Amino acid sequence: MEKPKLYITRKVPEKILEPFQQDFTISMWKYEEEPVPREVLLKEISDSHGVLCMLSETMDREVFNTGSSLQVVANLAVGYDNIDLHAAREAGVVVTNTPGVLTESTADLAFSLLLATARRIVEANQYIKEDKWKQWSPYLLAGMDVHNKTIGIVGMGRIGEAIARRAQGFGMEILYHNRSRKVESEKQIGATYVDYATLLNKADFVVSVVPATPQTNHMFNKEAFQKMKRSSIFINISRGSVVNENALVEALETGEISAAGLDVFAEEPIRSDHPLLNKTNVICLPHIGSASTETRSSMLQLCLENISGVIHGTGPITEVK
Ligand code: DGY
Repeated sequence: MEKPKLYITRKVPEKILEPFQQDFTISMWKYEEEPVPREVLLKEISDSHGVLCMLSETMDREVFNTGSSLQVVANLAVGYDNIDLHAAREAGVVVTNTPGVLTESTADLAFSLLLATARRIVEANQYIKEDKWKQWSPYLLAGMDVHNKTIGIVGMGRIGEAIARRAQGFGMEILYHNRSRKVESEKQIGATYVDYATLLNKADFVVSVVPATPQTNHMFNKEAFQKMKRSSIFINISRGSVVNENALVEALETGEISAAGLDVFAEEPIRSDHPLLNKTNVICLPHIGSASTETRSSMLQLCLENISGVIHGTGPITEVK
């Protein structure tokens, strides 16, 4: 009997695939840093049973209609806003994501952005590289303290909780806003539930960890930035669509907020002429939230196990419901 076909939309290390080679005919796109062209994706998907895709692929109705043998799509991300879940369901395709394994790495990145933005780390490094460091002075590149400040976490899922645990270590007051209250988190982490307006009003650091949904679209808009303290710092590690970027640019330019640390953007990749990039008080990263070598390998492994579980009938580990 022919082995089921598994297609991977980016080049990934052969080593990770080894344990799955005997059960699947595996093929993958030839480049690591370049997304698979749409026509190649459609062609490959037409006879695939499982697909391991990246958040850069739009997995829409056309994809699901093309994949007549398709049983499972495993997304190498916890977010799945690139996938049309209705179309997948109608086509009888199981969708999986990678929660859990990336929680701590993504929280590390959120905290790195927070610290780097508050203490002007990138700017300070650039200052030396440009040979501007002529003497020490008391307020040279003085930033804002992180310890003992108030953090406002918007979206208290696993990553939000992991950020809160880090904030605890910095002696911060922890406020959060979420669709539902997390009584356990409140007890364990000492976090306080507040409404959205209160969080914006009180937090020194506002950290977005909300998933991209129609409800969260542009929730960080002009009104939201106006409610924030003028000294506050905005961090976004979730999805670009939750922010109205024009409003953010304006808030930074008019001093409505003091700085921003961003890992995600409305349209990715952004180019070097993006208005958020010409500001010394903004640190931008190329969507590297979960990008540690260990975590990316665990995510790939989980995707492969999900695909194998669906195709072999034992079931997926982390299905998106
Ligand atoms: C995710 O998993 O959704 C992250 O954004 C990837 O870094």
